[in-house]
Amino acid sequence: MEQVSVAETKKLLALAKSALDARVEGDFVEFGCYKGETSVLLGKLLKSSEKSLYLYDSFEGLPEKTPEDFSPAGANFKQGELLVTKREVLEKLRHAGLDLRKIKIKKAFFEHLNPTTDLPRTIAFAFLDGDLYASINTSLALVVPKLAAQGIIVVHDYNNPELPGASRAVDEFLAQNPAFSLHIYHTLAIITS
Ligand SMILES: C[S@@+](CC[C@H](N)C(=O)[O-])C[C@H]1O[C@@H](n2cnc3c(N)ncnc32)[C@H](O)[C@@H]1O
Repeated sequence: MEQVSVAETKKLLALAKSALDARVEGDFVEFGCYKGETSVLLGKLLKSSEKSLYLYDSFEGLPEKTPEDFSPAGANFKQGELLVTKREVLEKLRHAGLDLRKIKIKKAFFEHLNPTTDLPRTIAFAFLDGDLYASINTSLALVVPKLAAQGIIVVHDYNNPELPGASRAVDEFLAQNPAFSLHIYHTLAIITS
């Protein structure tokens, strides 16, 4: 895996499967799909399910960092990095043999998404991988009101010294929403209610 480690990918898929097995209501979403590596795996998991997979990305690369993202450990992750086209991701999903009628890909900065028309009504499982403080903040704000009972949110890059904004957004969210709890696996923050 290019962006998420092998161990983290296994954990991510196990969590996604647990939401399926528990028949949690709603669809799956991924905020920040990049090349679609994890999207393909989530799509395969949903193959024999009625659930849909919603993928979001700017397909213009990362937005600009805010002060919360600055870190001596990470000069990378500059504006415009991690740029792929929607067409490349569609091609990857098609090549993997996935049913594209069950996968919706929206090209937009998260901040411009319309919760009513762009997101599913209910979310069973969310993978938030937007790297930056504002991106994680925004995706949490979009997902949480739609999260089903027993729904699971997984945020990547928690405790990643190169991307301190991800931890900051998660920690602030938990401080403001004490009904949610946090489990950490490597750099995955697993948020449940
Ligand atoms: C680390 S990559 C995602 C990797 C992918 N989840 C995987 O596992 O292969 C981060 C992606 O988030 C997208 N992104 C970050 N912030 C965004 C924002 N505010 N709006 C839209 N896309 C954003 C970037 O364009 C990039 O493709």
